[in-house]
Amino acid sequence: MPEANARMVLQDSLLSRLSEALAAQMGLHFPKERWRDLERGIAAAARDFHLPDAEACARWLLSAAPARDQIEVLASHLTVGETYFFREPRSFEILEQQILPELIRSRRDGERRLRIWSAGCATGEEPYSIAMLLDRLIPDPGEWNVTLLATDINPRFLGKAAEGAYGAWSFRGTPDWIRERYFKTRRDGRFELDPRIRKRVTFSYLNLAEDAYPSLAGNTNAMDVILCRNVLMYFAAERAAKVADGLHRCLLDGGWLIVGPAETSHTLFSRFATVNFPGVVLYRKTAHAGPRPVFGQRVLPRQEPSPQAGVASPEPLVQNLPIPREPPRETIRAEEPGLDGRARSCANEGRLAEAAKWCEQAIAADKLNPARHYLLANIRREQGQNDAAAQSLQHALYLDPDFVLAHFALGNLRLSQGRRREAERHFENAQALLRSRPQDEILPEAEGLTAGRLGEIIASVRSILPRANKEQPA
Ligand SMILES: C[S@@+](CC[C@H](N)C(=O)[O-])C[C@H]1O[C@@H](n2cnc3c(N)ncnc32)[C@H](O)[C@@H]1O
Repeated sequence: MPEANARMVLQDSLLSRLSEALAAQMGLHFPKERWRDLERGIAAAARDFHLPDAEACARWLLSAAPARDQIEVLASHLTVGETYFFREPRSFEILEQQILPELIRSRRDGERRLRIWSAGCATGEEPYSIAMLLDRLIPDPGEWNVTLLATDINPRFLGKAAEGAYGAWSFRGTPDWIRERYFKTRRDGRFELDPRIRKRVTFSYLNLAEDAYPSLAGNTNAMDVILCRNVLMYFAAERAAKVADGLHRCLLDGGWLIVGPAETSHTLFSRFATVNFPGVVLYRKTAHAGPRPVFGQRVLPRQEPSPQAGVASPEPLVQNLPIPREPPRETIRAEEPGLDGRARSCANEGRLAEAAKWCEQAIAADKLNPARHYLLANIRREQGQNDAAAQSLQHALYLDPDFVLAHFALGNLRLSQGRRREAERHFENAQALLRSRPQDEILPEAEGLTAGRLGEIIASVRSILPRANKEQPA
């Protein structure tokens, strides 16, 4: 690069303020050594914002907190989307040979459910790799209720991910048979993922630095495995610590967090137990390592981690990994009195049949309470009982036609059933209701989610609809 082009034009003080703001709003860390990248990204964003140059753009961004659509534009210029199928293969080997088989074994005779989240999924290669693993590990997928959620802050990446078509570069390091088995070569030379695998992943926008999780509305609660790889390395330390705490709360007891090899840290993941496998370090939430997430409720105040947390396993390899089961009942009662409170606690711990039972009792005690029908709908949804979930949501809406979250949930449900037109109608209803509310109003049953934020989430879901579902009848 010629010297003149390489010189930075923005003043240090401006770059410093900008990098602080971006760390707070998007988690992204731009230390001095990366200011040139920052400046390049801002210059590119200036064109999208129709501003004359990087300086005008930087000053404008600092004048007020950016709105969601501005964050999306910034994300498309400032994030690094480097990824490929089965990247860092050791993690996938451990998942395939140990973690997933053990989870599947332990759930086969009970509720057959699995919940996996790829947080910072970029263009989708990571969650689709998991979908391919599961395809081989679960021979009877119709009998299972598998959630494979994939989120990112960059809507362009999400659009590409939902399309499921990749160039050869996405397969570097991937065995040929994977491409032969799961992809079809298109005329333009790109490789198109088998729709059977593509449909198993749900993509959605989520800003790890700002959005609330665990969240019932965002479907980020009660996870068995979270992959958040090569994401936190770009985050400022303080923000990364908050994300680590949030991910901890999203996991069930015994759940796993997988980060990139360059991101392992006893300090950052001190709430987790460290499990050393040959060639890879994973983190696990143990029953004692911190407060459990609360389904449909605000998160409990932070407790200090117990001495068990964050202790490196003395054994280099854990063979048959036990998945910790039920916590003592007293804890549930002490934490969440009331029938619906019990239902939430059980759901939060993945004990869905029990949760449904408590919730039905709560409804029997107060049939006209829409929030209880909504809670039951979420439990049914997690059980894979979509028709029952839809019925409960309709019930909730009958009792309260302005129940925004129920419209949103029914929209999502119809979408997953391929009933696109109905989905659109519910999303429109929700958006119309949201428009009449103050943007900063916290919605009922929404774990702190504001009207403005839900409006943005719905807009984002709708914006990737045509590409995600193009073969489905409208
Ligand atoms: C290098 S990619 C990692 C992709 C994949 N996890 C992997 O390891 O191959 C980092 C991803 O993190 C996303 N990201 C950055 N900041 C984020 C934030 N605040 N919230 C959500 N995702 C974010 C970026 O958009 C990008 O897609």
